[in-house]
Amino acid sequence: MATTLAKADNAEAVEHAARIEHVSKSFAGPTGQQLVLDDITLDVAPGEFVTLLGASGCGKSTLLNLVAGLDAPSQGSITTDGRPALMFQEHALFPWLTAGKNIELALKLGGVPKNDRRDRAEELLELVRLNGSYGKRVHELSGGMRQRVALARALAQESRLLLMDEPFAALDAITRDVLHDELTRIWEETGLSVLFVTHNVREAVRLAQRVILLSSRPGRIAQEWRVDIPQPRRIEDAPVAELSIEITEKLREEIRRHGQQ
Ligand SMILES: Nc1ncnc2c1ncn2[C@@H]1O[C@H](COP(=O)(O)OP(=O)(O)OP(=O)(O)O)[C@@H](O)[C@H]1O
Ligand SMILES: [Mg+2]
Repeated sequence: MATTLAKADNAEAVEHAARIEHVSKSFAGPTGQQLVLDDITLDVAPGEFVTLLGASGCGKSTLLNLVAGLDAPSQGSITTDGRPALMFQEHALFPWLTAGKNIELALKLGGVPKNDRRDRAEELLELVRLNGSYGKRVHELSGGMRQRVALARALAQESRLLLMDEPFAALDAITRDVLHDELTRIWEETGLSVLFVTHNVREAVRLAQRVILLSSRPGRIAQEWRVDIPQPRRIEDAPVAELSIEITEKLREEIRRHGQQ
């Protein structure tokens, strides 16, 4: 299945999947310009899995939207290796289309010829372990299955960088666990680079090779950790728990510090 995405072949050819250099972002607020992100510098290497962690409102989604090109930084620059694919907490599937047709639409927009789309959609459904769900409509799918289709649709874009904004936050713990396993497997099989946003420390440690902690108001990089725990990990593994405790301590400090400002 590794051949189904373009990434693996040219992984060595590019230096960065994403390069974020001295990025700041302000929004107009009731009391003037509000600085949301302050001087963020961060590279994602080809094939790397990075999680961005921070308290609610610290600017995680804002940063992801900037990397996606949905908005422009106030200062600094962002470059990506091609156009990234996006996956959000809400699946954003078209309810009037079947699972398969949702994926085919992404393939069509990506220029895949009509005759190839059906097979490719079936392949992608197999990759996310939804064989046989091609003809199902969105309302016939569970929350976990919908996120699998959303992941297949993101993968259909053949991007080398996948941006994920709390994609599993609305799922129950067991379903989330299964999808963590699936995402790790797909990441390993495809060689994609992933920038994954979450406020769940355990999730960040479970998935990533590197965890970046953002402070709040404005969002700055507070600290980063390399996660050298071998995959596949489980969220309840002792080393995952240990590192999560350390990171949570630091996150609490950031929240306290922000509270005192
Ligand atoms: N388009 C916008 N206009 C004005 N303010 C905005 C806009 N987008 C985000 N903000 C503000 O920027 C700050 C950061 O928002 P953002 O959505 O990036 O946080 P977050 O870290 O993703 O939070 P959460 O974990 O709750 O999703 C918030 O104070 C928010 O109100
Ligand atoms: Mg957000």
